[in-house]
Amino acid sequence: MELEEIRKEIDHCDRQLVALLEKRLRLVEDVVEYKQQKGMAIYQPHREQEVIGRVVRQVENKCYEKNIEEIYRGIMRASRRLQSKRLFPFNIVLLGFMGTGKTAIGKQLSALLEMELVDLDQLLEARMNMSINQIFEIYGEPYFRRLESELVKEISVGENIIISCGGGVILREDNIQNLKRKGRILWLRAQPETIYQRLQEDNTRPLLKGKVTISYINALLTERWPRYQAASDFSVDTDHGTIEEISDKIIQSLSRNKHKD
Ligand code: S3P
Repeated sequence: MELEEIRKEIDHCDRQLVALLEKRLRLVEDVVEYKQQKGMAIYQPHREQEVIGRVVRQVENKCYEKNIEEIYRGIMRASRRLQSKRLFPFNIVLLGFMGTGKTAIGKQLSALLEMELVDLDQLLEARMNMSINQIFEIYGEPYFRRLESELVKEISVGENIIISCGGGVILREDNIQNLKRKGRILWLRAQPETIYQRLQEDNTRPLLKGKVTISYINALLTERWPRYQAASDFSVDTDHGTIEEISDKIIQSLSRNKHKD
């Protein structure tokens, strides 16, 4: 076959593929609507595995198995992103005291929902090329809070992202106003004893340096509690359960309450 003829065949395949992919994506949207109406779990990783397994078994020419599997993993990711966009037409903002699981849960939600995760502290550290500890030590807390607020303002205008905030973001009202513009705020809670367990060996939090005791954590948490409460649209306890279980619970409650203001 001449090159031009081969290319024509490829164009023809692409037209068919595009039409089928469009149909597939529409069906994926129907699935999410159905599950949402019935209150069913939206993300079912075992189902994705099943689909990929079935598709790979259907491949006739075995030397293409890996290629088709790779393409299907991409299709699955694109489908998840589409579902998330439909379910959550807003940014998901993770707020909560130090040690309540914002970073770990942020990563899990980002993987499940195929939504980009922006961790404000990590971004600040990368931009300053310094740890949070160093920023506090060298420039002091008020300077850190200023940088944090500027970053909140900048990142809050993004679309369809997960924003994981440092625990002190609620200290300034303008941060909350900025985050709420395009986001829903999810408050991750934990008991002082749980936070103590998680942070007793930690030395990355300047505010807790040399003060990691249950009573100190309790005092700081009590002081901040009303602010978290007032700022949040949703809340979840993170004392018990695995990261996966807590993340599933979050997705359920966010998708049930998507119109809540
Ligand atoms: C802080 C929490 C930290 C970090 C900084 C100050 C706070 O983030 O921003 O150490 O005031 O609660 P994490 O909540 O992610 O630990």
